[in-house]
Amino acid sequence: MDSVERLAIRPAFEADLAPFFAYLDDHLRDNGAGGTPLFQPIAPGQPRLPAGLRIAFIKGIEIPVAQPGWRRLWLAIDPYGDIAGHIDLRGRPEPAATHRAMLGMGVHRVWRRRGLGRRLLETAAGWARADTGIDWIDLEVLSDNLPAIELYARAGFTTVARVTDMLRVAGVSHDLSYMTYRLRAG
Ligand SMILES: CC(C)(COP(=O)(O)OP(=O)(O)OC[C@H]1O[C@@H](n2cnc3c(N)ncnc32)[C@H](O)[C@@H]1OP(=O)(O)O)[C@@H](O)C(=O)NCCC(=O)NCCS
Repeated sequence: MDSVERLAIRPAFEADLAPFFAYLDDHLRDNGAGGTPLFQPIAPGQPRLPAGLRIAFIKGIEIPVAQPGWRRLWLAIDPYGDIAGHIDLRGRPEPAATHRAMLGMGVHRVWRRRGLGRRLLETAAGWARADTGIDWIDLEVLSDNLPAIELYARAGFTTVARVTDMLRVAGVSHDLSYMTYRLRAG
């Protein structure tokens, strides 16, 4: 079995987006599959990411940090050139919150539970700490997604709110947890 240490983690550029979207569509097949928790608030079996999310990536990676719509993406690449995991940061919609970023991530099913999620978080946090003006990283996670919540908690994120019955997906109610990580003292 390949070691997670052999995976290169690097920023993604425009040419990476087509294979990235194919990877995300495949990733989505795991959403709620076989009794596992939902990680996207969309019904299990929905085959493709919403078009709006693709457009947000395409536009966002060209936008300077702190300007509306900015987004940055990092990919973990396996020795065969395939995507093993990803993490992205994006600006918040509130114009007065340019000192905060929102986080999204995922690890390909064959690479899970080997420390890649932890490495991806370190990569994004390291970038954000270095001269971006970002002081906080926020995220929203379905409260029953315990693998993700445990990963974030172990990395230093704090749960600041849990909203009961925030989402109803295919008629099933889900709580949503809000977590945050302070990159530097204010
Ligand atoms: C959540 C996810 C990104 C974790 O990635 P990963 O590479 O498997 O995580 P790591 O191997 O770095 O795990 C680090 C720590 O997180 C926790 N963790 C990870 N997976 C876990 C699981 N299935 N159950 C319990 N704890 C888990 C553990 O504390 C683990 O440390 P340990 O292995 O030493 O016990 C991955 O399961 C995934 O892609 N899930 C589907 C997409 C998703 O949920 N994305 C986040 C949406 S908010």
